[in-house]
Amino acid sequence: MARSAVLNVMVQAAMKAGRSLARDFGEVQNLQVSLKGPGDYVSQADRKAEQIIFTELKKARPDYSFLMEESGAVEGSDAQHRWIIDPLDGTTNFLHGIPMFAVSIALERQGQIVAGVIYNPAMDELYTAERGGGVFLNDRRLRVAARSKMVDAVIGTGIPHIGRGHHGHYLVELRNIMADSAGIRRMGAAALDLAYVAAGRLDGFWEDDLQPWDMAAGILMIREAGGFVSDKNGGQDMFATKGIVAGNEAIHKALMATLKKPI
Ligand code: IPD
Ligand code: CA
Ligand code: CA
Ligand code: CA
Repeated sequence: MARSAVLNVMVQAAMKAGRSLARDFGEVQNLQVSLKGPGDYVSQADRKAEQIIFTELKKARPDYSFLMEESGAVEGSDAQHRWIIDPLDGTTNFLHGIPMFAVSIALERQGQIVAGVIYNPAMDELYTAERGGGVFLNDRRLRVAARSKMVDAVIGTGIPHIGRGHHGHYLVELRNIMADSAGIRRMGAAALDLAYVAAGRLDGFWEDDLQPWDMAAGILMIREAGGFVSDKNGGQDMFATKGIVAGNEAIHKALMATLKKPI
């Protein structure tokens, strides 16, 4: 597996931020935590990791633009290239001592996602992808799962918390997926959920209300693993609509159909 220079830069940044997160995870009770809204936490660990990634990427590619969860957008002189960064996906897990969290970094070139890295430091799992070059977990090339029937499929999702809307509408979707599938998982880190679809661990995934930094790297990984990704209307406007549906071709199709059913 030969990584391009830019992918190496992304891997170095993600691993450095991951080491910082791993240290903070060991002392989670001492971290300063604040609320951005009901149920929506941010800690020193998120901010520190974001600063590390920003510094590393800025040093390597001074002109590129940024979109980051905690600091927002930073325009560079090169508007054709944009980093999309979630410094800590799974903050709630992290703050509860649950080791399901990750750094996610994607690179967009002229609006297309061309490279992605997702790193879970607690499990030392590094997912990397480049457009046209495949997706890897550490050194192993990944393919989406082959299971083609919903009755055999394990489907990941995210469930809205206090302060998020859509609770009633989500119940309908959950009820229908429950009735059709082999099981539902809610692991608490959307970037990892998408990486797990690329790895064939989850057969499919859907969620509403995600942000570009939750999805960008994972979208590329699923495509590079031979999977299908769309918004909830079947289009490619995941960032604008904030909804996503993913799986292999058959499971993606079946999920779309199940999600449209009335209760
Ligand atoms: C959250 C996680 C979670 C998803 C939420 C996201 P954060 O990201 O990905 O699984 O359900 O919608 O906001 O805030 O922990 O980076
Ligand atoms: Ca957050
Ligand atoms: Ca996130
Ligand atoms: Ca985050």
